[in-house]
Amino acid sequence: METRETKPVIFLFTFPLQGHLNPMFQLANIFFNRGFSITVIHTEFNSPKSSNFPHFTFVSIPDGLSEPESYPDVIEILHDLNSKCVAPFGDCLKKLIAEEPTAACVIVDALWYFTHDLTDKFDIPRIVLRTVNLSAFVAFSKFHVLREKGYLSLQETQADSPVPELPYLRMKDLPWFQTEDPRSGDKLQRGVMKSLKSSSGIIFNAIEDLETDQLNQALIEFPVPLFCIGPFHRYVSASFSSLIAHDMTCLSWLDKQETNSVIYASLGSIASIDESEFLEIAWGLRNSNQPFLWVVRPGSIHGKEWIQILPKGFIENLEGRGKIVKWAPQPEVLAHRATGGFLTHCGWNSTLEGICEAIPMICKPSFGDQRVNARYITDVWKIGLHLENKIERTKIESAVRTLMTSSGGEEIRKRIMPMKEIAEQCLKIGGSSFRNLENLIAYILSF
Ligand code: UDX
Repeated sequence: METRETKPVIFLFTFPLQGHLNPMFQLANIFFNRGFSITVIHTEFNSPKSSNFPHFTFVSIPDGLSEPESYPDVIEILHDLNSKCVAPFGDCLKKLIAEEPTAACVIVDALWYFTHDLTDKFDIPRIVLRTVNLSAFVAFSKFHVLREKGYLSLQETQADSPVPELPYLRMKDLPWFQTEDPRSGDKLQRGVMKSLKSSSGIIFNAIEDLETDQLNQALIEFPVPLFCIGPFHRYVSASFSSLIAHDMTCLSWLDKQETNSVIYASLGSIASIDESEFLEIAWGLRNSNQPFLWVVRPGSIHGKEWIQILPKGFIENLEGRGKIVKWAPQPEVLAHRATGGFLTHCGWNSTLEGICEAIPMICKPSFGDQRVNARYITDVWKIGLHLENKIERTKIESAVRTLMTSSGGEEIRKRIMPMKEIAEQCLKIGGSSFRNLENLIAYILSF
């Protein structure tokens, strides 16, 4: 039997944001179950709970972030982490490689764009986990061409014009990041591209049967092996890597609701909204007369702590028809028989979790890949409705009614079923993700 001493070891360097931690820990468990030893390298900022993973070794590195709230946007935090972690990550990697004679490779999140110099220096293969899907990946990869053509400035004036280089997308769907300094977004794209192209391979929490054309395009542009092995959460649960405690009362509340009756609303782990958008969503959900479960993350409404700005009596007048929580056990909520629709920001983890449960969506994207995903959900896969432009209560009310009670909603529900089927089949023997995982493991063992 192999022991910790003889097993091949994978070092995983997690990026400290929720939508990145979940897939990385799922991936870690996939490799652990396939006989690898796992060492997780993580920052002190948003550090994962090591006691939830007693089967992994954890190594913490100092990141030098003192007050994350003082940064103008998340991209600035990201750049600062990438500069402050160079020395600590280098020291840590050097030590780990010296201690582990069976070190196989390092897997880093794509947002750690500084790591290639160090893995080259220590001569250890570096595989990158890209947490977006292939459609968004292809859109990101064309960033510089689109920028040179001036599309960024067309985003406002010609928002609905098609993007010739990216079929299906409109100017307003391009995955730019709104940063205080526009060069900051460019720096991120450049860094990530360079790091991806110089890697030993890229892993996606995606399903190639759902994005065949995009995979072919990515293969032309990227001279490294690409492995689509999703959906990760179907191999293992994500719950243990949550940075916020799940409110489990969601599940007993759902137990009391009728089958397929509840609209679940959540805008993910980073997106924030202003007060008026929050109130429009609140009234839209309420006026739809449909039961709703709504996640309002503390701090996600600009300048407000939580939901104190709801009008007096709002919750009481719902008479139990709505429930608002700070954080939900999302995969379990989506899998619950009572959940019938998903008002989402279209982060890729959420989108994939929704597809796997065949839950039709209402899209309210905020930034980056979420806009690309929203366009694919509504115009390509046709498994959801898009709240285009300004958020208004009447639009939300009408979208919820259409999705949950109309024949149009029934059609959407029918279209998502085959996608759920594909997401199940791809993991079975001979399926695309099954094959790709076997190839990935053989590839790592060949290093
Ligand atoms: C962002 C990007 O949009 C996404 O595409 C990228 O890959 C990661 O960063 P984020 O806002 O974190 O995403 O959303 P998403 O990718 O959907 O991930 C959120 C995760 O948190 C999901 O795994 C979801 O299950 C979990 N979650 C969300 C909870 O556990 N509880 C909640 O209440 C809400």
